[in-house]
Amino acid sequence: MALVALLVLAASLAWPASSQRLPVLVPVTKDPATSLYTLPFHNGANLVVDIAGPLVWSTCQPGHLPAKFPCTFPTCRLANAYPVPGCHEPGCEQERRKDGTCTAYTYNPVTGVCASGSLDRTRFVANTTDGSNPVSQVNVMAVAACAPETLLASLPRGSTGVAGLAGSGLALPAQVASAQKVANKFLLCLPRGGDGVAIFGGGPLHIHSQSEVDWTQSLDYTPLVQRNGNPAYSVLVKSITMDNTRVSVPDSALATGGVLLSTTVPYTSLRRDVYRPFVDAFAKAVVAQSQHGWPVARVVKPVAPFELCYDSGTLISGRGGYFVPGVTLTLDGGKNWTMFGGGSMLNVEPGTACLAFVEMKGVKAGDGRAPAVLIGGFQMENFLLEFDMEKNQLGFFRLPFYAPCGQ
Ligand SMILES: *[C@@H]1O[C@H](CO)[C@@H](O)[C@H](O)[C@H]1NC(C)=O
Ligand SMILES: *[C@@H]1O[C@H](CO)[C@@H](O)[C@H](O)[C@H]1NC(C)=O
Repeated sequence: MALVALLVLAASLAWPASSQRLPVLVPVTKDPATSLYTLPFHNGANLVVDIAGPLVWSTCQPGHLPAKFPCTFPTCRLANAYPVPGCHEPGCEQERRKDGTCTAYTYNPVTGVCASGSLDRTRFVANTTDGSNPVSQVNVMAVAACAPETLLASLPRGSTGVAGLAGSGLALPAQVASAQKVANKFLLCLPRGGDGVAIFGGGPLHIHSQSEVDWTQSLDYTPLVQRNGNPAYSVLVKSITMDNTRVSVPDSALATGGVLLSTTVPYTSLRRDVYRPFVDAFAKAVVAQSQHGWPVARVVKPVAPFELCYDSGTLISGRGGYFVPGVTLTLDGGKNWTMFGGGSMLNVEPGTACLAFVEMKGVKAGDGRAPAVLIGGFQMENFLLEFDMEKNQLGFFRLPFYAPCGQ
């Protein structure tokens, strides 16, 4: 009896039950050269954050453990569940490897190039967190695909692959969730400078300067929807307003395609049928501000890829960015995602600030196969986002300027 009690005590000391279920935090940084975001994966290997990516892939440097997954294994099926459109590499389906082991498709989200590679196991090293501080280091054995070195083109210097964070079975959140017994959801705060965070398993999230506040309590939610069976994250937008004026896009324009989120495009792009009225409405709303006693913002020659630029000396600026009309996306469920100057205007060169939205390329107006709005990294920075695959919802909250994302 006493021995059993002692063993139970010893076990509970060695493995405190609570720490087994703590969320797992990794810092996220922005690469200034590419505007992509990376996270440390293990031993100094950094992977690019791709919230639309269904897999984890890398160049399989030391640390990878070759694993023999036959083509018929469920893990291999998961790895092949989201074929890359237009990728003609041989896979398990068409052309099996001689030894019958699994082939997965790796995809560079920036160049659009794909390759096929074996499926391996690798270690993801990170810390659990209590929401304020690291608690203990964890090693998560993760399944990752191996890609050739050439697939790294256009990715940040020093990165060795891509961490897919989409809602698929072999994306990093699902793998951490099953290994660490945490919820299949993650918090993401992309930094403009300094450190951001990704927290697998969810909140709380305290930020040191305001440590009594758990920012996840401030999240607003909207349902996540799947588009064409794709594991990337999409939401529905009901209307777009500039300050209090509704942008005149037909409801059907917003309904076709919805809003897709991407960490691998730098700026939000809008399909042509949404872009034109959007830019015109912004320009008008800026003029309307001057009719309400604000200084007249002077339009200057645009700097590509942007179309609407201002002499920044004629804009009023504060710590949260320029005081320009707020851009509000009213999402399904009625909650508003509002971008103020800090999320809508970019200083492109000294004296010039541009509306940081671009027109979607290669897509026709109204083409429902493309999203109406593709939210890019810049517009998500300093927002706390929660991607919850269990409740199928996206949480979002704009952090105040005094509370940037890092811990
Ligand atoms: C884990 O936390 C320790 C202590 O704060 C830190 O030195 C280390 O870099 C962290 N590891 C990772 C992978 O973030
Ligand atoms: C969202 O924004 C619209 C347009 O500005 C406004 O009419 C509506 O009241 C807002 N809803 C909430 C919940 O704040």
